[in-house]
Amino acid sequence: MSEVLYSIAVEVNGAQRAGHVTARTSLVDWLREHLHLTGTHIGCEHGICGACSVMLDGEPVRSCLMYAVQADGHRITTVEGLAQPDGSLSILQDSFCETHGLQCGYCTPGMLIAAQALLDANPRPTEAEIRDAIGGNLCRCTGYQQIVDAIALAARRIAEGAT
Ligand code: FES
Ligand code: FES
Repeated sequence: MSEVLYSIAVEVNGAQRAGHVTARTSLVDWLREHLHLTGTHIGCEHGICGACSVMLDGEPVRSCLMYAVQADGHRITTVEGLAQPDGSLSILQDSFCETHGLQCGYCTPGMLIAAQALLDANPRPTEAEIRDAIGGNLCRCTGYQQIVDAIALAARRIAEGAT
């Protein structure tokens, strides 16, 4: 018996996207398998690691814990949406490169989403606020310090007027 499909319309990285999904299609599966936005990673699939983080109406959420139908009518930003309009790296992405804020890169999309959400809400965070913002994202490689340094560097660059 075929499953019922539901129509959804979601703004993804500034573009209106439509789809037909089953009730149990997760948001991360829709993004990766239907929209081919594979920058969003799948780790634990139960809300622990943060690798699947995207922004929903500007707030970071775990896309493995959401169904695609729940995103209907909302605005999603994935890691692909953080780049500059010409495709070059954003200040935040470049800062991760500068401070070696990644090694294997598996956690990086989720870290970037968490960091971008922080900087959008609080452009001059303290180190404690940075650590708190990425507290729900696991990294098995870096020891976190370079990631904290990257976010602090991005905040300084933004404050200095970098674009
Ligand atoms: S894959 Fe979603 S939190 Fe780990
Ligand atoms: S860079 Fe490997 S998990 Fe974070």
